Amino acid sequence: MKPLLSEDALREGVARMALRIGEAYGDRPLTIVGIMTGSLILLADLIRRLRMPLRVGLVQTSSYREGTSRGALRINAEWMLDIRGRDVLLVDDIFDTGHTLVEVMRRMDAFEPASLRSAVLLRKQDRCEVDRQPDFVGFDIPDRFVVGYGLDYRDQYRNLPFVAELESSDLSAGGGPSSSCASR
Ligand code: IMP
Ligand code: MG
Repeated sequence: MKPLLSEDALREGVARMALRIGEAYGDRPLTIVGIMTGSLILLADLIRRLRMPLRVGLVQTSSYREGTSRGALRINAEWMLDIRGRDVLLVDDIFDTGHTLVEVMRRMDAFEPASLRSAVLLRKQDRCEVDRQPDFVGFDIPDRFVVGYGLDYRDQYRNLPFVAELESSDLSAGGGPSSSCASR
């Protein structure tokens, strides 16, 4: 495993994001919706740096791969607060192809929030397949499979306090990182 972002770097990156979010919303009440489970750590650290009146909700997504094609994204919004007429910020761990964020935002738009923006800790370079970008980004990273600070490989490593790149020696037999995409 190769360290990519240290605890100090993450702390500074999250503080920078919080500052930009604060500048964008001022004192307006904000509803933050985290995508579980990857956004868990970012959400906890980010909300403690925001000073506007804040409500926090969660949505759970999972996607199922069918052969080599992308599986449909399932969204469980049971925990999502009422967002009609509210300023809403969606938070996720990583923007890879962008399909997850775009699809969740499309579904949330149906509930007619006053505004809907997105924040991610990481954005992978040269992977985007959608015509929309996150509004707030902590770090741009190379196209590598990373874990830690909420991000998992087969539901492991979320608890690492830093972000690291997985190396082939870290992979268990029977599948590379891409196979983990079946259960995001
Ligand atoms: P997207 O729909 O391709 O943007 O994928 C976003 C989701 O894929 C994220 O919420 C993560 O759960 C997962 N993902 C993408 N890249 C990585 C990675 O490098 N490490 C861990 N999870 C990842
Ligand atoms: Mg995820």
